[in-house]
Amino acid sequence: MTVLVTGGAGFIGANFIFYWLKAHPGDRVLCVDKLTYAGNLSTLSAVLEHPDFRFVKTDLCDREALDRLFAEEHPGTVVNFAAESHVDRSIEDPEVFLRTNVMGTAALLDVCRKYGTLRFHQVSTDEVYGDLPLDRPGLRFTEESPLRPSSPYSASKASADLLTLACFRTYGLPATVSRCSNNYGPWQFPEKLIPLMIANALQDKPLPVYGTGKNVRDWLYVEDHCRAIDLILRRGKPGEVYNVGGNCEMNNLAMIKRVCQELGKPESLITYVTDRKGHDLRYAIDAGKLQQELGWQPATRFDEGIRQTVRWYLEHRSWWEEIVSGKYLDYYEKMYGDR
Ligand code: NAD
Ligand code: TYD
Repeated sequence: MTVLVTGGAGFIGANFIFYWLKAHPGDRVLCVDKLTYAGNLSTLSAVLEHPDFRFVKTDLCDREALDRLFAEEHPGTVVNFAAESHVDRSIEDPEVFLRTNVMGTAALLDVCRKYGTLRFHQVSTDEVYGDLPLDRPGLRFTEESPLRPSSPYSASKASADLLTLACFRTYGLPATVSRCSNNYGPWQFPEKLIPLMIANALQDKPLPVYGTGKNVRDWLYVEDHCRAIDLILRRGKPGEVYNVGGNCEMNNLAMIKRVCQELGKPESLITYVTDRKGHDLRYAIDAGKLQQELGWQPATRFDEGIRQTVRWYLEHRSWWEEIVSGKYLDYYEKMYGDR
């Protein structure tokens, strides 16, 4: 089988490619990625020479390029990770979020329909449900919760979910959607909370907490997310939405203190900064459907996952230092400029 992974040079997509090549030996994996600031070809260096792997630098919005690739490769399964993914950037400049997350997904869905893709999976986020209050801990998002996105990022992701489900209903494309909580683990771009705090702490730089630090996120180790998508692709029902969550709620301040503790760095690095506009208070996922219907549950406990993640950033210092210093652009030119 040939699996097309979009956004595979980013955090979760790359972890998914590593996971898939190991879990399904013999499958061919194609990666389509535009290599935006968040996509990093060096992340994929371990598989670039793999006989069952092919990397194609393409913008999801480039319909002709997608068409050519599908005509050549006829992928049976398509998993759409490609997105602009950072809420803060979406607040500064929403347009590229609409372009990639909405128009890019629409282009991909169209080409999947044209070539009769057997399975399409849209990787979405719990942020499409908006947020929950801090004082009602019993509330959690189910697949039936209304879509109430707060940021341009989550609004664009909600739109992509709806386009995917409409494509199932109207054209019969066998499509599924998963809505996952915050992921952490290796290869996450150091603009997101955990890797930013690790990178800053290691450089003895301030650790910026937005607002009070009381905002709550639910955290899931990235490999558990990859396993959930694999299960949904193989055993999920087309037309269905599946929530994916870690059952691991934590407020940001507690998370940052935990990172300090793991690194042996002082909490005095913590600095309170102006809050994010429209900052969602709390995300909490009820993943009961995925658990009951497909038997999924998170395998990595937070204690273990955060330890592994911190160790990974310590052992891969050059990866994130090059990103932080902008050097990965040189790497890309060297590796890919003439291809
Ligand atoms: P990321 O920002 O690390 O990676 C995104 C990748 O998409 C990059 O490699 C980038 O180059 C590529 N890309 C961006 N625009 C593109 C375009 N126009 N054409 C082709 N490729 C393009 O993101 P991530 O954290 O790995 O998230 C992956 C997916 O999972 C996203 O759809 C995101 O909404 C979703 N998600 C993320 C989280 C999380 O905690 N990170 C949680 C739930 C869902
Ligand atoms: P982030 O990693 O951007 O994920 P998301 O906003 O999609 O959940 O942020 C996670 C939480 O951490 C969010 O409540 C914002 C907060 N945050 C900070 O307090 N400081 C920071 O420097 C960053 C990047 C995030």
